[in-house]
Amino acid sequence: MNRQTGQRIVIGISGGIAAYKTVNVIRELQKRGYRDIETILTANGTRFVTPVTVGAITGKLPYTDTFEPGRALSHISLVQPCGILAVVPATADILAKFAGGIADDFLSTAYLACTGPVLVAPSMNSEMYRHPATERNIARLKKDGVHVLEPDAGYLACGSEGPGRMPDAETVADMIEFVLHRKTGGPLSGMRVIIASGGTAEPIDPVRTITNRSSGKMGKELATAFALAGADVEIVAGTGTACYPAYCRQTKVQTASEMKDAVLKKASAADIIVMAAAVADYTPETVFHEKKKKDGNLLNLRLKPTTDILKTLGTRFEGEKILVGFAAETSNVEESAKKKLTEKKADLIVGNIVGVPDSGFEADTIRAVLVAKDQSTVPYEKISKEELAFHIVEKISAIAGRNK
Ligand SMILES: Cc1cc2nc3c(=O)[nH]c(=O)nc-3n(C[C@H](O)[C@H](O)[C@H](O)COP(=O)(O)O)c2cc1C
Repeated sequence: MNRQTGQRIVIGISGGIAAYKTVNVIRELQKRGYRDIETILTANGTRFVTPVTVGAITGKLPYTDTFEPGRALSHISLVQPCGILAVVPATADILAKFAGGIADDFLSTAYLACTGPVLVAPSMNSEMYRHPATERNIARLKKDGVHVLEPDAGYLACGSEGPGRMPDAETVADMIEFVLHRKTGGPLSGMRVIIASGGTAEPIDPVRTITNRSSGKMGKELATAFALAGADVEIVAGTGTACYPAYCRQTKVQTASEMKDAVLKKASAADIIVMAAAVADYTPETVFHEKKKKDGNLLNLRLKPTTDILKTLGTRFEGEKILVGFAAETSNVEESAKKKLTEKKADLIVGNIVGVPDSGFEADTIRAVLVAKDQSTVPYEKISKEELAFHIVEKISAIAGRNK
């Protein structure tokens, strides 16, 4: 199982300063496997990014003119059917046209003809964005079922600061994928998933912690795979560098105790709980209130065990919710995963090797084995974390009886 990348993505580019960033959005989508990408540039869009650049990236001539000889009626055939029409960036002008039903160029006409979902990424000067007319148009579009990717706040090209900046290419691509996959629904639609991801940091004093090297990459890939399968995903994110998809709700935590509290608080409302986090097994018994000064003597730290979150979940929710755990080991992975599955009353354990360059913390690949409750195993010699996440979701869909 992998991303379903066969559907057509139509990218509309209107005449905003962020248009140059759209090239990176297209490249990001191509990196994720999408090949059927078509583009529409408004006349003013071509002033910011040329048809030559866009055509070179997609390998296809962009559409710019409704009346182009030989391509008449493309404003209909291009978007009937299509997986998604995403307007990136969307100017105040194009939002107004869409909201008012004006069809006086290729993009606005294609919008009216489009049978797929539509996403717009408004990007403009903050005053333009906050103008009642723009707010009214965006509200109208939302009512019309258009998905709106809210702009970031920050320094804008015009020198002012505030909302209006187009989010980075990865975030825009995440949102395009999300809307594209939501359209068809997925095997897990309607199911609520909690994913605990990343590491934890246990304080020693106000400035030092005991932590681990978990990046949160596996959790990020799982969040994506679950969301694309239709699930409603909430991430409890510990330490690490991973950037989670913007469409997932996120609660940030630091310590093992905070992670336990956050997961248990949300657990009763969830159908599936995935403990992909590297939670500290021990935490300092006492925390120094002041920064511990170096005095040349040995420093003994007494550590006390933390609460085992997966075991707590297993005791409370066995048979009621689908529980997934990870067993990171340096040896005897399958054996340890089987033992953990029984001890924690989990439905699936992902045993994985850590401490080698091609598997474990910070790596993009992983060597893993899936162990299910019936003790059946599926080994993966070396696989990308992205691919493994889709296999895990497929397995869980089967456990949930939701496999299509
Ligand atoms: C340098 C420059 C930057 C612009 N940036 C934006 C922008 O970021 N967002 C926006 O809504 N309009 C922006 N505009 C104004 C639009 O280009 C203008 O409203 C135009 O009519 C939009 O045409 P279109 O929506 O058909 O592409 C900018 C104009 C110039 C000259």
